[in-house]
Amino acid sequence: MNREDIVALDRKLLWHPYTQMKAYIETTDPVVAARAEGFYLYDVDGTRYMDANGSWWTCIVGHNHPVLMAALVERTKTMVHCSFAGTTHEGAVRLAQRLLPLCGKTFSRLFFSDDGSTAVEVAIRMAAQFFSNRGQEDKRRFVTLSGAFHGETIGAASVSGVEVFHEALRGLLFDRIVLPSPAQSAAPDGEPWYETAFARAREILLAHHRHVAAVIVEPLVQGAAGMLMYPAAYLRELRALCAELDILLICDEVFTGYGRTGTFLAHAQAGVEADIVCLGKGFSGGELPMAATVTTERVFEAFLGDPSKTLWYGHSFTGNPLGCAVANATLDVFENERLMEQLPLKAAVVQRGLDGIASHPWVRAPRRTGIVAAFTLVDPQRPDDGGYLNDAGWRFYNEAKKRGALIRPLGSVVYFALPLTVTVAQIDELFCVVKESLTAAFG
Ligand SMILES: Cc1ncc(COP(=O)(O)O)c(C=O)c1O
Repeated sequence: MNREDIVALDRKLLWHPYTQMKAYIETTDPVVAARAEGFYLYDVDGTRYMDANGSWWTCIVGHNHPVLMAALVERTKTMVHCSFAGTTHEGAVRLAQRLLPLCGKTFSRLFFSDDGSTAVEVAIRMAAQFFSNRGQEDKRRFVTLSGAFHGETIGAASVSGVEVFHEALRGLLFDRIVLPSPAQSAAPDGEPWYETAFARAREILLAHHRHVAAVIVEPLVQGAAGMLMYPAAYLRELRALCAELDILLICDEVFTGYGRTGTFLAHAQAGVEADIVCLGKGFSGGELPMAATVTTERVFEAFLGDPSKTLWYGHSFTGNPLGCAVANATLDVFENERLMEQLPLKAAVVQRGLDGIASHPWVRAPRRTGIVAAFTLVDPQRPDDGGYLNDAGWRFYNEAKKRGALIRPLGSVVYFALPLTVTVAQIDELFCVVKESLTAAFG
């Protein structure tokens, strides 16, 4: 097929995620991806793009990393799939053995699933059943941060709060208790907002704790809410409060995990460990649908005993051997290429890039945690016209695309989710494009 045929059939037959298809069919000229390598995606016409959002935040060691591809090919020679019920395999065991210590001292059990949403779904069910298995039937409610995003299943969506995504689901989602976001950008200038947010969280949890199974948070960076960043101190206090009130703390590290915030898991920066951690995206190097929920022996033990205590949950592809092979290879790359050791240098280069655009009149709140960076586009003439449906982000996106970078916005928020393998030269190249695109879009 040539490029035009592919685009015509795509417009006629396919339905894309998070896309208003009328506008897409009428106006969008999609990238027709043919090849991917490292930081770059290539269109069938040969155009090269920097994949600055890491293909929806998945691509943690760059596209088609040779170590991952070799593991994948090797695995296909003997076994691509087997169920994970009454069956096990070396790749799964080896992965758990290597990964659990990286998550922290208290983690001792890993449950596989398919993507970030199902990793969260598992966490929700684990937390609710943990308490019912212990005879604490009343503890079934979930607490989330305002603006949270935890995924797409009805369970994961119920603990999420990006309102614009959920209007159509009203009445179908279960009720959650919402804590104010501790993110700085929610604060009036200069106020230590996270302390106020924590004081309010304390009041709310003290009032409801008898009915609360778990608090779920995106540690340090609330991604889909607009890359809202908050200090580790909030997590430290929240961890202590949850322990005091017999509430489980779920850290959804689907986006923040695998190093991009500066530590392998983001919540480690608070010097604490959650009860349950959700992993996805970078878990399989961002190359295959594969995810996991990890927990402690304390949680696991509550599921031992008669059949009614079983975690009745699982998917067809749970523990898929190809996924495990690639997830193991991802850890190989972390070790062999010493990715975490190089991160502070790369984070400094990202900061230099942000500093270089901070004075542009449309750029507000440039922010960074590790190598995750973002800024908000605000029209200096109409500073109140923000929000997810604002078109400033797309004006910027179109200019950046013309210049060879894919930087899909979150409404008016422009952000970067770079692979840890990105080079200093590539970061500099990206920020040159960002600067030129700002000028082209907004003057
Ligand atoms: C924090 C967080 N949790 C869960 C999810 C859902 O992951 P997936 O899209 O793989 O289902 C996302 C996706 O962006 C996320 O950012």
